[in-house]
Amino acid sequence: MINETVLIIGANGQLGSVLSEELQKIHGKDNVIASDIYSNSTFDGVFEIIDATDLNAIENIVNKYAVSQIYHLAAILSAKGEANPLKTWDLNMSMMLNVFEVSRTNNVKKVFFPSSIAVFGDKAPLENTPQSAFLNPATVYGMSKVAGENWAQYYFNKYELDVRSIRYPGIIGYQSMPGGGTTDYAVEIYHSAVKQEKYSCFLNPETKLPMIFMDDAIRSTIELMQAPKNSIKTRTSYNLGSMSFSPSEIASEIQKLYPNFKVEYNVDFRQEIADKWPKSINDDQAREDWNWKPKYDLKSMTVLMLEKLEEKYNTSTLK
Ligand code: SER
Repeated sequence: MINETVLIIGANGQLGSVLSEELQKIHGKDNVIASDIYSNSTFDGVFEIIDATDLNAIENIVNKYAVSQIYHLAAILSAKGEANPLKTWDLNMSMMLNVFEVSRTNNVKKVFFPSSIAVFGDKAPLENTPQSAFLNPATVYGMSKVAGENWAQYYFNKYELDVRSIRYPGIIGYQSMPGGGTTDYAVEIYHSAVKQEKYSCFLNPETKLPMIFMDDAIRSTIELMQAPKNSIKTRTSYNLGSMSFSPSEIASEIQKLYPNFKVEYNVDFRQEIADKWPKSINDDQAREDWNWKPKYDLKSMTVLMLEKLEEKYNTSTLK
């Protein structure tokens, strides 16, 4: 077992809740400190409430447990962020800078900072979007991620803080729900299917976006964090590819197993956000530098999502 003490900020979130458990398996239950702004009575392990906009609150916990790695996952996402742009900027930036600054001044060895496909805008090629494409995000969330990527690189260059980052596609898992993103439909749709409900989709049927299954997203994060330091050549954030599909394609895949499943389309403001994002991602750099390779595609993910959600809702007899 690797002798590290790991702090997760945003451990109640879609990714954080699953990642916390995986990190417990790697580092041991007592060496993983899960934290969030809200308490979590169901978490099986060490949990602390941290308001990450408060630098001292982070610093206290880092010192209390002699934290050596931080996974900073707390942020307001793309769709929710548009309701209050200034607050989103303020929160996302202050939390991120607090984490970097506490890490620098308290001997934290490694930091994970998630970025997103939201960093791209209409100046980047939509298909096979390259690592080095021009970044002109249209959302405040995307702007905060571009700034975060540059700060990550700055802390690495100036202070040798080992910050590592991935530009996640939309993440799809059965374990947790996303909150406030543009790709959320791709999780919600499975829940509706298993509950035998019609799904009302907020993106139009042909909107293709890059997505990734939770298991692959978790594995990519752990593999990046475990890679030798000198193999990490990109210090802003890595493009990460896995699968790409549209609402009509995921609906058809679900209908192979649930023939009666129906989707209606009620497009809202999130369509405009999605239209400026890549449809597919070129991740050659991640493949080259730390051997990234996705395992799941739409078909294998769909089988597993439906199976696991059937267990969760106890509906295995419904099909
Ligand atoms: N899934 C996120 C969102 O939709 C993208 O990072 O906001």
